[in-house]
Amino acid sequence: MSTLAGKHIVLGLSGGIAAFKSAELCRALVKAGVTVQVVMTEAAEQFMTAVTLQALSGRPVYTSQWDPREANNMAHINLSREADAIVVAPASADFMSKLLHGGADELLSLMCLARPLDKVPLIVAPAMNREMWSNPATQRNVAQLKADGIHVLDVGQGDQACGETGDGRMLEAEEILEDLEAFFSPKVLAGQQVLVTAGPTYEAIDPVRGITNLSSGKMGFAIARAARLAGADVTLVAGPVSLATPRGVKRVNVRSARDMLQAVQAHVPERGVFVATAAVADWRPANAADQKIKKDGSGQTPELSFVENPDILATVAQSAAAQKGDLFCVGFAAESHDLLAHATAKRARKQVPLLVGNIGPATFGQDDNALLLVDAHGARELPHTSKQALAVLLIQDIAQRLGGAQA
Ligand code: C5P
Repeated sequence: MSTLAGKHIVLGLSGGIAAFKSAELCRALVKAGVTVQVVMTEAAEQFMTAVTLQALSGRPVYTSQWDPREANNMAHINLSREADAIVVAPASADFMSKLLHGGADELLSLMCLARPLDKVPLIVAPAMNREMWSNPATQRNVAQLKADGIHVLDVGQGDQACGETGDGRMLEAEEILEDLEAFFSPKVLAGQQVLVTAGPTYEAIDPVRGITNLSSGKMGFAIARAARLAGADVTLVAGPVSLATPRGVKRVNVRSARDMLQAVQAHVPERGVFVATAAVADWRPANAADQKIKKDGSGQTPELSFVENPDILATVAQSAAAQKGDLFCVGFAAESHDLLAHATAKRARKQVPLLVGNIGPATFGQDDNALLLVDAHGARELPHTSKQALAVLLIQDIAQRLGGAQA
């Protein structure tokens, strides 16, 4: 479940062509369980009608500080007192400049100025032409807004409505949604470094063939995302999968088990967390052919022999133990039966404090799963739900263990 569910957000629109994305953002927020109160400036109404946003939010939109619907005629006070956050998207260059100077000549800026600073955070998503964005005046304003405690989201890069290309686009609706999700998530791993492996590996037989396995990478990607939402600095070493990189996560793509080991060793933090969800191929062909192995019509099949791949988790866990054990290592076990027994044995064999078991064939490629957390004291079940939700629960569990270890 989204941390946004049940929140009340005032969505402010200032004038900019990116306002079309705000309609999508409004819709996505409502879908995430947020009640959305839209406030628009006069300039915003040049780009998007209040009717559209009323229909999407299910609430009448406010566009004027003189709105007679408010019994006390103080929309700026009433609206800001009810909000869990005010999100201005798009935030134009002019609107940010107005915020900076405490301008209050229309409802949206007036409401931002009137908000209780300690209770109602203000988050802005800038949107403007690249020259406007890079202008020292704008950059100065951004720095000062941040210093004033306003949360200024990043801008996107790419083609702009004006025909130019560069920085300054407003983030896409789903990116803003993800940043808001991160904003409201408890920061249980703040300041921690987390390394995650995910997906299968691919072991070449020749340039066109190889062996791999059915891992989709979804669980590992969900864990990387949950760790970022929890405030960690996250690196994700991913085997060949076509999943989108979770926002704010650094991704390193690899193919074989040996590539994965190399990437892990290059990125493993000295302290923090290592979560190995990757389904690493146990063996690789002993001698991958340089050229495609041809079928010659004789009916003879090629002789393949295999060598064992390095065990990435065990290698990392051993060197972490050698270096005082400041790295908390978590392994996964995909089994077909006897989960508790296999996971317990695997935990001992890999010498990790926490081993997470799941039934492989039931979960490969699916969006949901069930986990069994096995440690030195026993086992705890995380019952069947979405991989995203399980990842959040697992990260909370790991954070508690780290807290306990530090205490
Ligand atoms: O030995 P097995 O593959 O069942 O162990 C599973 C756990 O070990 C997972 O956490 C997996 O990511 C990790 N592993 C690894 N390197 C291997 C094999 C498994 O890191 N070569």
